[in-house]
Amino acid sequence: MKYNGKPYRTIWLGSNGWMVEVIDQRLLPHQFEVVRLKGLDDTAFAIRAMVVRGAPLIGATAAYGMALAMRADASDAHLVAAYDTLLATRPTAVNLRWALDRMRAALSPLPAAERTAAAYALASEICEEDVVINSTIGRLGAELIAAAWERAQVAGRPRVNVLTHCNAGWLGCVDWGTALAPVYKAHNAGIPVHVWVEETRPRNQGASLTAWELKHHGVPYTIIVDNAGGHLMQHHMVDLCIVGTDRTTSRGDVCNKIGTYLKGLAAHDNNVPFYVALPASTIDWTLDDGVAEIPIEERDAREVTHIRGRAEGGAMCEVLLAPEGSSASNFGFDVTPARLVTGLITERGVCPASREGLLSLFPERSEGAAAAEPSPASAGVVG
Ligand code: MRU
Repeated sequence: MKYNGKPYRTIWLGSNGWMVEVIDQRLLPHQFEVVRLKGLDDTAFAIRAMVVRGAPLIGATAAYGMALAMRADASDAHLVAAYDTLLATRPTAVNLRWALDRMRAALSPLPAAERTAAAYALASEICEEDVVINSTIGRLGAELIAAAWERAQVAGRPRVNVLTHCNAGWLGCVDWGTALAPVYKAHNAGIPVHVWVEETRPRNQGASLTAWELKHHGVPYTIIVDNAGGHLMQHHMVDLCIVGTDRTTSRGDVCNKIGTYLKGLAAHDNNVPFYVALPASTIDWTLDDGVAEIPIEERDAREVTHIRGRAEGGAMCEVLLAPEGSSASNFGFDVTPARLVTGLITERGVCPASREGLLSLFPERSEGAAAAEPSPASAGVVG
């Protein structure tokens, strides 16, 4: 996607051919700065501190982290240490484990001398795949927005309103985004789409990152406080919700940024379609019950008691919001049960949020199934 007229991805190789460059997402929307990752520790820090964030981008960054680690020391011991270090950075997004498992499986059988080149090649492949997958998710999701636009016109409304939570745009992926890819494709196709952007306390990925992305692509948007979504739905101001996910279980329970569940409940109560957009790498086939089984990240309480932003004079500053010494808890994610989800938008098609729905798109995951993978190009709506 473009920033100031120049096309960007969120991660790329520097001009020396080995350093990894990423956008420092902690500084957006006020400063656009590129950070160079030179080794394993830099990469682990970047994921943990949320220089980069968003499930697919966490996976892609970890893949390059393995490449940087192999460049420094391609021994078996270092391969295992790099895998463990990166896996421990953030617990909830399963794309991290998916990417690391893929890297380890490819690198382990190779002689040490071949590992660095193979690691860079596979990390690059993971990034390229992410772009194609998200573009497909965008195309399929845009059909849902087009249908909602038809309904909005019948109801006499001048635009189609999508509500989203957190940032599931190109900043959270390598390009396009998951939940925002359909919005970009619909907008590019001339559909008058407007986005309600939930600010997403405490780190405000909606107000800072989603708003920044939409602004730079020219998509109309309005920032709302996290608690406003239900009110808007009651007043027919939301045509559909589309959110991303950090881990979706084999029965379709969806874990995403804290506050998503309440939007799922409000959407269900108001008959507003609630879609979740995800690449297959976000499905954790080993889990069933998302509420009971998905590890939920707990972050520093300071993210709740303090807020960071740009002061009148232009300098970045942090202010205290709560009585000094207050305790605060900071659960990063929640789980929306499958029964509240209208459909899952994947690169293979749109399906009901259920085991049957997912298996209809991923038959190779059925017990005893021979691998038979439909291509993204043949993807459509199921169920
Ligand atoms: O804590 P974050 O900013 O990494 O959380 C990101 C989200 O919850 C996104 O909605 C999710 O990763 C969807 S895909 C970009």
